[in-house]
Amino acid sequence: MPDKSTTSEGAAGTPAAATPETPAVARKIYPVVKYGDPILEKPTRPVVEFDEQLAELAEDMFATMYAAQGIGLAAPQIGKSIRMTVVDVTGGKNPEAKIVLINPQLVHAEGEKREEEGCLSIPGFRGYVMRPQFVTVRAQDLKGQFFEIRGEDLLARAFCHEIDHLDGILFLQHLSMLKRDLIKRKIKKLKKQGEW
Ligand code: NI
Repeated sequence: MPDKSTTSEGAAGTPAAATPETPAVARKIYPVVKYGDPILEKPTRPVVEFDEQLAELAEDMFATMYAAQGIGLAAPQIGKSIRMTVVDVTGGKNPEAKIVLINPQLVHAEGEKREEEGCLSIPGFRGYVMRPQFVTVRAQDLKGQFFEIRGEDLLARAFCHEIDHLDGILFLQHLSMLKRDLIKRKIKKLKKQGEW
């Protein structure tokens, strides 16, 4: 998810998903992979090792996401094809809103809401996407512990968008063929001009 411009905040669910406090260290800001790179369109592999490196990666992902003014970032977007994503619909305003989802699965979805969304990997383009209004996600935390978290409205949308990323699906795939082709054509043009 690119920014926090859409709708209201969702209920943040249990804070169990938040990352533990880490001392202030310089974080690595990764370049965000753009549409066209095949890594964005292939399913990721599950995370099996829950070590310090994974915790470091999560913090680097938050730093990268905040630097890009996003509210969600999936590992493939920084070139790592693993089933992990970070979400913060407050955009860094509330440390308790930081959510790390490892090996997440959507276990429940309810209602529908159609709102505009975008993606850090497809900068400059947005489109209306129908998503569930409420979702429950089951995932592992940085220690490998399973937990469930509920999301509503924007948070539900962010969870769905990010889990899609982990399955190699971009929001473009939820648009009408007409709208999708229009965006693809514009990106092609930008690429030709060396602006993508
Ligand atoms: Ni995205």
